[in-house]
This record gives sequence, structure tokens and C-alpha cells, in this order.
Amino acid sequence: MKVLETVAQMRAACDALKRDGKRLGFVPTMGALHAGHLSLVQAARRQCQAVAASIFVNPTQFGPNEDFSKYPRTFDRDQQLLEAEKVALLFAPSVEEMYPPGSKTFVHVEEMSKKLCGKSRPGHFRGVTTVVNKLFNIVEPDLAFFGQKDAAQCAILRRMVRDLAMSVEIIVCPIIREPDGLALSSRNAYLSPAERKQATILHRALMRVQSLADKGEHSSEKLIAAARDVFAEQPGVRVDYVEIVDRDTLDPVPDVSRGALVAVAAFVGSTRLIDNIVLTAAGSAGHP
Ligand code: PAJ
Repeated sequence: MKVLETVAQMRAACDALKRDGKRLGFVPTMGALHAGHLSLVQAARRQCQAVAASIFVNPTQFGPNEDFSKYPRTFDRDQQLLEAEKVALLFAPSVEEMYPPGSKTFVHVEEMSKKLCGKSRPGHFRGVTTVVNKLFNIVEPDLAFFGQKDAAQCAILRRMVRDLAMSVEIIVCPIIREPDGLALSSRNAYLSPAERKQATILHRALMRVQSLADKGEHSSEKLIAAARDVFAEQPGVRVDYVEIVDRDTLDPVPDVSRGALVAVAAFVGSTRLIDNIVLTAAGSAGHP
């Protein structure tokens, strides 16, 4: 695996792979890799002849009071994991390389970027779409792999790709979970042992929604109330949102009979975690 730190080096390395006729898959990450990230790399390897990954903790997607400076950075271990997954190219630029002094251009998907996490994290999705756009311009992948864990991120990036007529295809991969249901996340590292136990409440709330939907409850209002009741059992956890929305537009839907995304965000102690499930038209869980 080649590790590249500059835009010019990465662009040249990606060009060389594509000149060889290789279909190039790309997995952007912020590092602190876990099995969720690696599942994206594995999906990329199944569908492409060469895989590029990036590790870049992107400052523009963090709010001023968020965890940019304390975000876990485990580069050596990450590098070994990606090497073991036969990644060909790892792009690991500095902040100055990605945002040279004087940078003025942002990519902003209007309206959608204010929904779900965008409400409590203003500017977050603008940072995501900007950096992913830059990464796509550098790597020019055929396929790019993202996790359903960040469902709003996927919907917004799909919108960006369509709106800007980009040639990359976005592939969304299922959420990888711990045995007790907690979705893997780099931020789980912040949890104390007691908080780690409380953190399963996100998944349990979603499972309550799933089982009610399976029994024929289609009212979003009732399903949201049921999820909030589950959260109320755990006073140490503060709900940020419970929403039932259209998977593509992220607009709230009043009932789930035609399928919907059920998304939750909650603070466990000071750690903000997110999770979601997709209700299919029949009312059962589905993956994209
Ligand atoms: P990061 O949080 O590092 O996640 C990188 C990718 O891994 C994302 O597509 C995310 O959805 C996916 N992922 C995280 N946890 C997962 C899980 N449990 N199962 C499956 N996939 C999972 O998302 C970002 O970084 C950034 O916003 C980024 C897209 C890199 C732009 O900076």
C-alpha cells in the first residue's frame, strides 16, 4: 500500500491505476478505523479492481464546540488495518494540503443540509460535501463507498452527485453493529464503561419502532412517541432527535406505509451518537 500526503501525489497514483484500466473504488474516512469502515473496504474490493482510502479528520465538518481536537487519531494502527485489507492507495493529507490558505469555495446542498444532524450541527454537512467533493476531484473514483450508519450523509451526497452531474457512483453499505446492537462508531471510544452500557438504548428504541411497525403501526407520530418512551427509561441519555423521514429527501413523513428512514441521535454523557433503521414498504427492516 502506498501512503500519499499531497494532492499531486494522490492524483498521479490514482491516474496510474486507472490508466491500467482498473476500476477504482474509494472509501473516505476520518480514521480511528473499526469493522464498520473495513466493511466498506471489503465491499469496494468485491466490486473494484483497486481500492483507495483516505484518512482525514476534516475540520470544516466540526462545529466550534465539537470534538475536532480530541477526535481519536490512530494512524499507525489504521494503516496496518488497511494494508491487511489490500488497499492500494491511502491518502492522508494535512489540513493545509486540503485547505490551502485563502480557500474560499464550499459545496452546500441546500435545505437537506439543515435536516437531521444538520439541525443541531449547523455547517456540518457543508463541511462533509465540501471535503467529499474535493476528495472525488482528486481520486476520481468509479465507485465510492459510504455507510448507512450516516444515513443523512448518504442522502445528501447522493443528491450532490446528481445535482453536480458527477460521474462517481455512490454505494451505501449496511450498518455494522456490536453483538448487543450498538452501531460501531469511532466515537464509541469516548464512552465510559457505564455509558457504553447505556448506549444500547439507541438501538433498543429503534427495535421498538421496528416491532410496532411490523405489527401494523404506521403512524410516525405514534412510532416516534414509542421510541421516546424507550429513551425515557434511561435518564442519563439525552435525546437530540427521533425522526421518521423520506430516505431520499429527508423530509418528515406522516406515516411509514411506503417505507421510511427512522433516525435517532442522542447524547450519552457528553458523547453524541447516531443510529437508524430503514422501514421497508411492508414494515420490515431493510438495507439499501
Ligand atoms: P467516518 O465517521 O470515519 O466514517 C467513514 C465511513 O464509514 C462513512 O461512510 C460511515 O458511514 C462509515 N461507517 C461508520 N460507522 C459505520 C458502521 N458501524 N457500519 C458501516 N459503516 C460505518 O463519515 C465520515 O467519516 C466523514 O463524514 C467523511 C465521509 C469521511 C467526510 O469527512
